[in-house]
Parts: sequence; structure tokens; C-alpha cells
Amino acid sequence: MLISLMPSKNTIKSVALISGATGFVGAHLSRRLVRDGWQVHILCRAESQLPSAPEFAYVTKHIHDGGMQSMVDCVTQAKPDVVFHLASLASSQHTANEVDSLIQSNVLFGNQLLEAMKLNGVNCFINTGTFWQHYNNEDYNPVCLYAATKQAFEAILEYYAQACGIRAITLKLFDTYGPDDLRQKLFHWLNKAAKTNCPLDMSAGEQLIDLVHIDDVIEAYLIAAKRLLDGKVPQHERYAVSSGQPLPLRKLVEIYAAVTGQVVKVNWGARPYRFREVMRPWSRGVRLEGWKPHIELEEGLKELKSRPCEKPLLPNKC
Ligand SMILES: NC(=O)c1ccc[n+]([C@@H]2O[C@H](COP(=O)([O-])OP(=O)(O)OC[C@H]3O[C@@H](n4cnc5c(N)ncnc54)[C@H](OP(=O)(O)O)[C@@H]3O)[C@@H](O)[C@H]2O)c1
Repeated sequence: MLISLMPSKNTIKSVALISGATGFVGAHLSRRLVRDGWQVHILCRAESQLPSAPEFAYVTKHIHDGGMQSMVDCVTQAKPDVVFHLASLASSQHTANEVDSLIQSNVLFGNQLLEAMKLNGVNCFINTGTFWQHYNNEDYNPVCLYAATKQAFEAILEYYAQACGIRAITLKLFDTYGPDDLRQKLFHWLNKAAKTNCPLDMSAGEQLIDLVHIDDVIEAYLIAAKRLLDGKVPQHERYAVSSGQPLPLRKLVEIYAAVTGQVVKVNWGARPYRFREVMRPWSRGVRLEGWKPHIELEEGLKELKSRPCEKPLLPNKC
């Protein structure tokens, strides 16, 4: 079974270097690239935990120790055709203790990666942004400090694109969902509420959520990579990876209950909306040529039902 995953030498397409490969999106991307015959290298920290999926047996791991020279060494060893940059620390409402880590993970780490690419003559870069850079549908208005660090990194990337020959695509992701998601996000909490029969305290639920299935998200990265390798990107392009069909949170919960056949009790309005809650997601982004989402929410949720998350639910605490 493992052998069939291993690309033979003459099917190897291109070499990828992926940051954030242990995260939800990065793990799906790494697995897909291995299956598609890419030679996959991943940038990790010493403490990073690799997912257990069999495709990870075929990735080459490079440990970055936080320093510039270590990053140069990783890029020199990997010699990638395309760098997929997904590593990030996300925090919707930061504390003072998180400021250093947000800058380290979301600005410094990426800057070191770009500098290492420049020194190694590697020039195709896919960056990952967020719709949270566009509060109130504005060109730039960060929802939170995390979104501001994403914008700061994009501004740095612009320098490398304008002045150093880096050719880049920034994919701005919206909410994502799909199998093997260990993050404690909406569907995790709904599943837990249903399984434990504990009502879930939520806001009034009128905010619109734009959800894209992980397989569609990964398709956007593949199309972006092809666009870069085909030489279609002179400097830096930005695209929104959005469903274009946001739904109110209340409606999402209704659909989740109907598709999974679970009874989910929600105390609507028991919590206030978050500070700078996004009531209407950014709708002014441009879609990547050749990409559109294919997986309907109902279809994606049916698959989730048949492949529940591996993470054990915490004990019932109403
Ligand atoms: N998922 C979404 O719905 C969504 C929406 C908008 C934007 N995005 C963006 O999409 C990307 C992927 O998101 P995700 O949900 O897959 O993230 P995730 O599950 O939280 O994973 C984050 C990844 O970043 C790595 N990382 C963090 N700080 C690092 C550092 N200083 N050095 C090296 N690696 C570091 C983590 O590695 P360790 O294993 O070492 O911790 C992990 O692999 C991120 O850039 C995120 O901002 C995601």
C-alpha cells in the first residue's frame, strides 16, 4: 500500500518546499503533492509533530532552528522549484505574551525564507494570507493583530517581488473545513455538543461564514503553482480562495444537523459577538483563473460524518 504512493523517478514532477506542513492545510497539501508525484520537502521546527498519514513517509524533513543561516541551509538542501508558505501562528484576540511569537512566526520566519530563496536563486513563492486582512470589506483593515502581521509580511514580500526577482502568488484563505481537522473550530464544537448532549453557548449567529472544503483549497495551491511554473506571474498576484456563498452561522448549524442527523442544542445569543466580529466576509477579492470550488457544503459534511476527527472529544462538562 505504501509502495503505491511512492512516485517513480520518471514521474517526479517538481520539487516543493512547504512551511506549515504539520498544520491542517499544509498536511493536506503535502499529502496531495506526494500523491501527485512531487518531491516534497517540509520546513519544520525541532518540536513539530508530523501527521501520521502514510504520505509523510515520502517527505524530506528540514529542521529550521529559528536562525537565518539555518534557513539558508534548508533551502540550499531542498533546492525547490516552488516554495509553499503556510506556516503561521493564528490568534483572533492576542495577549501581550503572544506579540513576540506572532511577529516571529508570521513576519520574521517568512522574511528569512524569502531571503534564503534570494540567496539560492529560488524564485517561485506561494504565500498564504487571510480574508481577515479586509475587515468591513476594505482594501486593508485588519480584524486583529494576526491579520496585521499577514499584511506586514505581504508588504515585505512585495519588496522581494519588486526588487529581488521573486515571483509570488498570495492566496487569501477564508474559513476551511474537511477531514483530519484537529483544530477546535465550528464543526468540532457542534459534534461535541451533539455527542455529549450539552447545549452550546453561541452568539446571536447572524454573522456570515464563507467555508471552502479543504480539497478545493488544495486545488487552488496546485493551480497557483502551475501558474508560477508556466511563467505567467511577472511579480506578485493576490487571489481570494472563497466559496462566494457565505451563509449565516445559524443556517450552517441547521445544515450540519440535517446532514449528520445529529441533534445540536444551541443557546443562541448566550455569548456576545467577538470584538471586531466579521459579520460579512470580504467579497472584493479576485478569483484565481481556472479555480472555483466544487465541493458543496452538504457533500463535504457527509464526508466528515463518515470520517470523524481522530482527536478524542473531551469529557462532558455542561
Ligand atoms: N485554516 C483556515 O481556515 C485559514 C483561514 C485563513 C488563513 N489561513 C492561513 O492558512 C495557513 C495554514 O493554516 P492552518 O489552519 O493549516 O494552520 P495550523 O493548522 O494552525 O498550522 C500552523 C502551521 O504553522 C507552523 N508554524 C507556526 N509557527 C511557526 C514557526 N515559527 N516556524 C515554523 N513553523 C511554524 C506550525 O508548525 P508546528 O507543527 O511546528 O507548530 C503548523 O505547521 C496559515 O498561514 C493561516 O494563517 C488559514
